[in-house]
Amino acid sequence: MDQITFHHDTVLSDVHMLLPNTCHLMTRLNYVGQPVFISKFKILSDGEKLDNNDPGKALKDADDYDDPKEGREKNTEATQGKDGEGCGEGNMKPFLDEDGDLDITHRPRKSPMGGSSRDLVCPIILKQSNPVLQQEEENVDDEVDKCFKGIIRIEHTMATPLEDVGKQVWRGALLLADFILSKPATFRGTTVLELGAGTGLTSIIMATIAKTVYCTDVGEDLLSMCKRNVLLNRHMTEHSGGEVRVRHLDWLQHDLCTDDDVEFSWTEDEVADMHKNTTFIIAADVCYDDDLTDGLFRTLYQLCSNFTHSCTVLISIEKRMNFTLRHMDVSCKAYDHFRHCLSQLQDLVDGRCSFSVEQLPSNFAQFLLYERIEQLELWKVIITPLPFDQARPAGERWKIGRLAASL
Ligand SMILES: C[S@@+](CC[C@H](N)C(=O)[O-])C[C@H]1O[C@@H](n2cnc3c(N)ncnc32)[C@H](O)[C@@H]1O
Repeated sequence: MDQITFHHDTVLSDVHMLLPNTCHLMTRLNYVGQPVFISKFKILSDGEKLDNNDPGKALKDADDYDDPKEGREKNTEATQGKDGEGCGEGNMKPFLDEDGDLDITHRPRKSPMGGSSRDLVCPIILKQSNPVLQQEEENVDDEVDKCFKGIIRIEHTMATPLEDVGKQVWRGALLLADFILSKPATFRGTTVLELGAGTGLTSIIMATIAKTVYCTDVGEDLLSMCKRNVLLNRHMTEHSGGEVRVRHLDWLQHDLCTDDDVEFSWTEDEVADMHKNTTFIIAADVCYDDDLTDGLFRTLYQLCSNFTHSCTVLISIEKRMNFTLRHMDVSCKAYDHFRHCLSQLQDLVDGRCSFSVEQLPSNFAQFLLYERIEQLELWKVIITPLPFDQARPAGERWKIGRLAASL
């Protein structure tokens, strides 16, 4: 498949965007007729990882890897180097060319190495949709450790309509995965809930360290793809004793489905286990629509205010800038709404929990290859139940955004 057709509501993740056409070979059609691709993300070993605290100590032997977009980068860089100059955040002014067309400056890019190395932005695609790969997939049980050590294989689609964005891999998933891999001691043996997990990549990486990961999202088709990815990578998680359970959790619904007849529903035991033991909730790139962001924060609040223990929430977000004709300027509406929800949470006095909010520095090591642009952020919220004697009657009810949420 060489051509991807773009409709007005089509979105394509940067993670998949920079691959040359030769890598866009589909493996199959999914249940709703969308082409499915497989990408292999190499997890760099301790010796290979990018140390973002020490830009000089970059990926050693980077040249050994296949760079699928060799030759393209120089062009991109030439353009961006010039156009991006002096265009820091808030300094991106549109202007008109000689014919009166809008000429919009691209956002500036930051290399993880601090220099001009834009060669590290693609996941490493080792083999794709060829007979050898098919055979490897079939022999997965026997040869898996040998073939795929340190490689996570993810099925995904490309260029989806907005309602199917979960079928692509987003940079926020890779940022969160890097954070997890850089702090194994923090997550070892824990129970984790992922919200809006999409293809499941971050949950799978988490399960190489944690004990149980409830990997949740909505839509049978997406959850089936996610479950397939969990199975494709089971050698990585089983090896360390971790388990990923793919379950349905909709931020716009109040209850978890426990109906046996419904696929991806929860058992009563799982619900109890999740409430009793979850100490981390993770979510990658889930704030791109204000109503959904409201639903996400309401879900977080409902879950954590029923926990009897502290819970740490980690949310990655990419601050996407859009130019609007209405304002004739660049704005980050979804990001602004996310920050608004965070500050409401921080200020909330509900008599049940205390909330602390903090942005984490993004200089932790990079185990996956992607462009860690400065617009990629990681936020931490710690939700702690108040001791009984400090708890006030829950007279103040939290209203998030435009939703008068009855919490
Ligand atoms: C941009 S994708 C991110 C997917 C994945 N975390 C990643 O970073 O690759 C946003 C995710 O939020 C999920 N989502 C959207 N609305 C939701 C809802 N009401 N309840 C649960 N998940 C939802 C989507 O299905 C999608 O998987």
